[in-house]
Order: sequence, then structure tokens, then C-alpha cells
Amino acid sequence: MPVRVIIGAQWGDEGKGKVTDFYAKEADAIVRFQGGNNAGHTIMAGDKTFKLHLLPSGIIREDKLSVIGNGVVIDPDVLLREIDELRAMGILANNLRISDRAHLIMPYHKLLDGAEESFRGKEKIGTTKRGIGPCYSDKISRLGIRMEDLLDPEKLREKLNFVIPLKQKLLMAYNIDVQLQIEPIYAHLLEISEKTAPLITDTSVLLRKMLKDGKSILLEGAQGTMLDVDHGTYPFTTSSNTTVGGAVTGTGLPASAIENVTGIVKAYTTRVGEGPFPTELDDEIGYHLGQAGKEFGTTTGRSRRCGWLDLVVVKHAVETSGITEIALTKIDVLTGLKELKVCTAYNIDGRITDNFPAGKAESIRPIYKNLNGWDELDTKMVLKEGHTSLPKEMREYMAFIEKYTGARISMVSIGPHREETIIL
Ligand code: GDP
Ligand code: IMO
Ligand code: MG
Repeated sequence: MPVRVIIGAQWGDEGKGKVTDFYAKEADAIVRFQGGNNAGHTIMAGDKTFKLHLLPSGIIREDKLSVIGNGVVIDPDVLLREIDELRAMGILANNLRISDRAHLIMPYHKLLDGAEESFRGKEKIGTTKRGIGPCYSDKISRLGIRMEDLLDPEKLREKLNFVIPLKQKLLMAYNIDVQLQIEPIYAHLLEISEKTAPLITDTSVLLRKMLKDGKSILLEGAQGTMLDVDHGTYPFTTSSNTTVGGAVTGTGLPASAIENVTGIVKAYTTRVGEGPFPTELDDEIGYHLGQAGKEFGTTTGRSRRCGWLDLVVVKHAVETSGITEIALTKIDVLTGLKELKVCTAYNIDGRITDNFPAGKAESIRPIYKNLNGWDELDTKMVLKEGHTSLPKEMREYMAFIEKYTGARISMVSIGPHREETIIL
């Protein structure tokens, strides 16, 4: 399996961290390709729980190479803090490489993220306020500071001299009373440079060499398809391409090297932050899903909005990224519900469609198919005997998803722990 890509098929938090950790054991390198520390990926291995925001989930397997690709935006303080936290948990994190083309999240990006959100008022996105959007904006505007700049102090200073006065004007336009000081920012970056320089390299060359040598590479997506800046619920999205194209541009690997695209689908739907969510449940079932699924954000601690599985969304993800197989997660959370609904189409002002529209998402009325629930899930027995001992109704639920999306379910996750995983 030369290259496998992990893609979130909904609005993030589908369980990408857990599934990446599972496939990491058969990979030589694990690579993050987009996003930044807006992500929160949880892995429960043995008696330890790891919550990673920026580092690839493969970092906890110390014999693997972990790579932060060029498509990622890096808050250098978070990077160093996360490495320290792992070391405190006994993980050395020595096998990490960072792309020289990756952009840095600067202090003014975080200030501007907050300022833009306040400016939007009730139209706010509900961002994680980590500076993600302003950093990607600078990348596209060609005003960004990159990891390579940390290796060239002269060039770094020149760039800061040019860009900081501009950012100061922007902050003033937003009425933010902060004076950006070039010298301390420069000095801090030089400290960061000292600590990170040995990790910075052309990771695209490194990864292409691994590919040539027949190594297998796992690309770990962050966020989810509906947060993709092109294919998601714009403007209520993140600022990167979370779909499969991001894995190509964010690593420098050729598209033709991708053999498998694994879509991570939560058995119901959640969303953090603002924006359309057609199958959202504002009732006791929604509350139940949030409690049973422990749906609180890994990054900001916010409660996640919960709702029924939306197959229009999942089909959108399958088709946009060419998902070849589905890892279905958190199906254990549905145990005990008598009747389950899955959304199979939308009614938008009287027009029926099974395609997610570019706009008008607030006018969507979901059309549901009712399926039977199951009373009990004997996790121990299933782990011993395999998928044939999953409840009959659960297997019907899974068969319905496969038939609707045309993608095979190759893995079912029935609990947060590493071993609570069934391969089909
Ligand atoms: P990610 O952002 O896609 O990596 O997902 P998060 O880690 O933010 O959120 C998923 C949460 O569900 C984490 O707390 C996981 O430990 C947990 N989880 C993952 N798979 C399962 C599962 O199959 N069942 C249950 N109950 N929890 C799961
Ligand atoms: P993982 O990788 C869920 C959401 C934010 C907000 C929007 C834009 O754990 O699945 P941003 O800070 O990126 O500009 O915020 O995107 N968001 C996530 N929601 N899981 C995530 O990551 C997310 N990363 C960003 O809540 O609505
Ligand atoms: Mg998450």
C-alpha cells in the first residue's frame, strides 16, 4: 500500500486520529498535509490518551517517520509545547521532519483571527481562533513567513520589516490596540529556529524518495470534507482543502501515487462552530448523542452540535475525494436508540436533490429513511468473534450506508480504544 489518505467525511471529529493510529502500524511514514492546530485528534493506546493538534498521529509510534507537510500551517510555540508534552508522556518524538515550505502562524495571525470574528458579529464563523485563516490568507497573498525563513536570519528580518507594519495597519483598522514589536518577534523566531532547524527539510523530496524505495506512506487529513474551503459549507469552513487534492498539494506527492482513500464516517453527524447543519437535532436525541458520544471539542472544549447521519454529506465526500473505502466510527454510540434516521435527500424550496448545494443550505429540509436500532452491543464478544456477531440491525445500517454511497465499509470502530476496531 504505497499511499493511503485519511479524509474526514463530515464536519471533522469523525475519529481520524484513532483510524490513523490504526493504519500507522503498517506505514513507514505518517504525514499531516493541511490545517494546523485547529485540529484535535485523540488516540487511546493502552492506558494513555494522546490529544494531538499539530503533530501527525504517527508520532506516538516511535519507529515511524512523522512529517509535517508543506500544506500545514505551524504555530511554532504549539509545536514545541506539543513535543514537550509528548516527552513528558514518554514519547521522544525524535523522528519528526518539517517541510521547509510550511507557513508559520505568527502572533498577528492570532490577533487578526479574533478581530475578524468580532467584526463579523452574528455572522461569525466560530473559528478556533488559532490564526489559521489569516495565516492561509497570507500564504495566498504571498506575504507568509515559511519554515525555510527560520534558516536565513537576514531574509527573515527583511520579511518581518516589510510585513509587520502592514499588519499593524490592519490591526488598527479593526480597532485592536496592540503595538507589534519587530525585535521581540524576530528574537523569538531565532530561538525557535535554534530548536527546530535540524527538523526542517524538503519533505517533498524525502517523501518521493520513500515512494521510489517502495515504502508506504499514510497521509492524515485534518478537519472534514464539509469544512473544505472549496467543497464545504463556505464561508463556514476552515481555510484549507481538506479533501483529497489537499493531500497532493500539501505534500508534493503525485496524485497517481494514491492507492487508497479512506473516508472516516461517524455513524451520526457532529459539527463545532457556526454554519448550516441540515440534520441537526435540537432535542433529547441530539442531547443523548452528545452525552453518549462525549461530543466536546478536543481543541476548544466547545460542545459539538449533534444530529442524524447525513448520507447526502457522506456521498458528497465519497465523490469529491474518490473515497475507496469507509471506516465507520462511533457506531457504539447509537446503541439503545429504538429507531434511527438517516438523511437520503434534501428538499430545497420544493426541489428534491441528493447533491449538497453551494448556497441555500439554510433552506434545506432533510428527507429521512427510518431504520431499526439495536438494544445491545456486546463489545467483548464482537472483538472475540468478529463482525458476524454485530447486531443484525447494525449490519443493516452499515449495508444501507454502503448501498447509498457505493463505498465499501472496511473498518468499524466500536469504542475509542485502539483495539476496539474491527476489520471487515
Ligand atoms: P478526529 O478529529 O477526527 O481525530 O476526532 P476527535 O479525536 O476529535 O474526536 C473523536 C472522539 O471520539 C475522540 O474522543 C475519540 O477517542 C472518540 N472515538 C473514536 N472512535 C470511537 C468509537 O468508535 N466509539 C467511541 N465511543 N468513541 C470513539
Ligand atoms: P479535526 O481535525 C471540527 C471548525 C471550527 C470552525 C471552522 C473554522 O479535529 O477534525 P478555523 O479555526 O479552522 O478557521 O475554524 O472549522 N474546525 C473544526 N471542527 N474539527 C476540527 O478539526 C476543526 N478544525 C476547525 O470550529 O467552525
Ligand atoms: Mg478532532
